[in-house]
Parts: sequence; structure tokens; C-alpha cells
Amino acid sequence: MTLRAASSTAVLVCQGRAIADGRFAVGRFADPIASQLLEPAERVIVDRVRAGQVPTDGADRMAYEMRRRTGLTMVPRTIAIDDAIRDHAAEQVVILGAGLDARAWRMPELGRATVFEVDHPASQQDKLRRIDGLAPTAGRLVMAATDLASERLGPPLEQVGFDRGRVTTWVWEGVVPYLTASAVRATVGQIAQLSAPASRLIINYQAKSLPATVMRAVMRLVLRLSRQPDPLAGEPWRSQWRPEHMRSMLSNNGFDVNSDSDLLTLSAGLDLPAESNGSLRNGRITVAVRR
Ligand SMILES: C[S@@+](CC[C@H](N)C(=O)[O-])C[C@H]1O[C@@H](n2cnc3c(N)ncnc32)[C@H](O)[C@@H]1O
Repeated sequence: MTLRAASSTAVLVCQGRAIADGRFAVGRFADPIASQLLEPAERVIVDRVRAGQVPTDGADRMAYEMRRRTGLTMVPRTIAIDDAIRDHAAEQVVILGAGLDARAWRMPELGRATVFEVDHPASQQDKLRRIDGLAPTAGRLVMAATDLASERLGPPLEQVGFDRGRVTTWVWEGVVPYLTASAVRATVGQIAQLSAPASRLIINYQAKSLPATVMRAVMRLVLRLSRQPDPLAGEPWRSQWRPEHMRSMLSNNGFDVNSDSDLLTLSAGLDLPAESNGSLRNGRITVAVRR
């Protein structure tokens, strides 16, 4: 297993959800747990964005914009995944690369489910420290540590009670870009082996986009030049997928795609500020069913 620090992109997306909570798409989106998972220093910029206090300094402005845009992206992404989980009341829900995902603490619909959170060990330890004392809404919550880039998924899950004979909902949100294409294929192959027929796999991935890659590089450069902390530094993007390639890879592994939409389409009708946002156009959610 690769030694590494807890994920800072997990903190970034948690900040995004804390920013959006109660501000955007109220009634459709809510994550009241997100701000409770943040440390006081991480909450400062969240409060600033929520108050609309736009910094005048260029470097602070970039950090502000990064959080604000992350907040906007989290809204359709979270709603689409929550809806897909609700649509398929499975007894087992596995959240891969869970980070600071709070579904097991905020979704009453998971009251009868066992939720398995899988993550890199350092990120999982960090989560356990942050979540200390908060009662889950999930019927049962189990943690399993693994490195999806180099280790098998089945043994750590089955050691903690995962049953491959039961129908499962798999959630894989915000993780695919950080794995190579071959690690993504290998993980889907393992998920297929662990999935009873009718199990669902909900994947959030990034479509191939040169402008999005360039924009990300520019943001990182500005942060570096201005000596601001860069939450993306330790977690480079390693794979982006054309929707047709994602569909055929899933099909080759026994999954039929029920839906595959970009976040811009999924944000139609939601109460969000109207603006062109590359990450909404390029972020996608696919829901696939095991044959
Ligand atoms: C951007 S965060 C997303 C967290 C969460 N799914 C969410 O959307 O809020 C990326 C997550 O992927 C996990 N991750 C990245 N590479 C991984 C790997 N090789 N094995 C296991 N987890 C990994 C990180 O630890 C982190 O929790």
C-alpha cells in the first residue's frame, strides 16, 4: 500500500458541500454534517464564501473561487447520487473512496442498510477523528481500508461482513479521476465479481476535456506562485473518460448503463447561480445495473 497523507481533495469537496448547504437548491440539496467535519481553520474560507466576502487580493481570490465553484459542482452531483441511492433501496451500500462523505450520517433512507465505507487508510483515520461523536443514520456502518490502485477490494470488504450474494448499491464519487484507467478497469472488474445481479454502480467521473485540464493547471500555478496551500497538489488527475468508453468498459464487466448525464444537465431546474461552469459540463454521473 502506498504511504500517503489524508486526502486534501476530500476536505475541498466537504468545504464545497458546507458552502452550498442551505444556500443553493434548498429543499433538494442539504448536507448539514459537512461543516461539522471541518476543522476551524478549514471553515474560515467556507464562512467567507457563504457571506459573499470576495477577497481583493488575487491569491486569496483564487482560493475563494476554487471553493465557491466546488460548492456549485457539489449540488447536482450530490442530488443525483442521493436520488440514485434512494431509487434502489439496497441492504448493502458501499461507498468507495468515501472521504468526508456524510451520507451515512445524514440520510435516514439508509436506516435499514449496512454502509461500508472504503478508503485509503490515512483518509479513513482522518475521517474517524473528524466524525467522532456523531451518530450515524445508517443501520450499520463499517469501515474497510484499502488502496484501490494496488490492492484487492474483496478481502477487506468480506472480512468486515460484506456479502456478495446480496444486492448492493456501490457509490464511487470523486475518485475515478485520481486512479489510472487500468486501476479503474481493475476496480470495476472486482466490483462486478462482488455484485449480485441487479446491484447498482453509481459512478461520478470526469469526461475528457482539454479546457478543464488547462483550467486546473492554471489554478494550481496561481496558488503556487502566490504561496497559497494547493488542495490538489498531492492528488493529480490520472484518468478522464469518454462516455462511450465508460459505457463499453462497464458493459464488458457485466453492467448495463441505465443513465449517464453531465452535471450541467442534472442541474437543470435547480436553484443555482447561472454561469458557465466547465466542471459542471465535464463532471458526469452514470448509473449502471449488474446483469
Ligand atoms: C475528492 S475525494 C472524494 C471523497 C468523497 N467520495 C466525496 O465525494 O466527498 C477523493 C477520495 O478518493 C480517495 N482515494 C483516492 N485514491 C485512492 C486509492 N488509490 N485508494 C482508495 N481511495 C482513494 C481519497 O482518499 C479520497 O477520500
